[in-house]
Amino acid sequence: MNERVATTSGSGSSYKFGDTDLAATRLRTVAQVFEHSSRDFITGAVDRPIGLAVDLGSGPGYTTRIVAESTRAANTVGLDSSPSFLAAAAADTSRPGLVFHQHDVTIVPFPVGPADLLYCRFLLSHLTDPDAVLTRWAGQLADGGLLLIDEVEYVRTDHPVLAFYQQVVTTLLGRNNQLLEIGSTLARMSAPPRTERLESALVTVRPAARDIGTMFLLNLSTWRRDTSITEIFSSVDLDRLEADLSDVAEGRLVASAEWGMRQILYRRVHE
Ligand SMILES: C[S@@+](CC[C@H](N)C(=O)[O-])C[C@H]1O[C@@H](n2cnc3c(N)ncnc32)[C@H](O)[C@@H]1O
Repeated sequence: MNERVATTSGSGSSYKFGDTDLAATRLRTVAQVFEHSSRDFITGAVDRPIGLAVDLGSGPGYTTRIVAESTRAANTVGLDSSPSFLAAAAADTSRPGLVFHQHDVTIVPFPVGPADLLYCRFLLSHLTDPDAVLTRWAGQLADGGLLLIDEVEYVRTDHPVLAFYQQVVTTLLGRNNQLLEIGSTLARMSAPPRTERLESALVTVRPAARDIGTMFLLNLSTWRRDTSITEIFSSVDLDRLEADLSDVAEGRLVASAEWGMRQILYRRVHE
């Protein structure tokens, strides 16, 4: 029987960062900024040949390629609920051999069989019951299989423009029962049943100012008309934020921020 873990709307459709072309463009910058920390994490985790690797919430496929290259898996599959992201992933010929399926990853079983490695980045912030989700995911691992979680623990900045953006995006997710800075919550949780936690590390990433501006501006443009935001923040303040972030993205305003990424590695124990 299929099992589903509740999200805000009872399905994967509560994802607030959108799946438009703009959202896909943002994920391209995200991919460049976080590529090294993710590659190092995956490469360091893999200690045996991987038959099947699965990228959970694969978006347009940037993380799926990192998973495929870092694990050298015989087969790599990306699962995502967004048809437009999946179409973009499938259309990109720079990723030959990768397979993508539409699937709400809060529902098990996955349509691919037991995995030797499951990887998830920037997804658990958008799901409302991470403990239950991880339990379900652990059940999709082959014996000895690895579950890698790569999520935001904090975004620190003392620049007022970036700090205001953080306030707005945290409000957007919070009003939808989602938690942007979910890393410490994940770090405190016990290992899912039939798994052991092999590692839990905090890795820092300091993106270039223009990249921060680009990521934040494209994200704000995607959801700034969401009522969760417009009920709280005035259009004057949001217009000013958009203009300020444009200045950061185009190098007219310098601002810095540091991300703390929580990277947790679980292994399914042999039974
Ligand atoms: C912030 S993006 C991260 C994409 C990619 N992992 C990365 O790090 O670039 C989150 C992705 O999760 C997908 N997503 C959200 N909820 C989902 C669900 N319940 N099932 C499958 N995919 C989901 C979204 O469509 C989106 O592609």
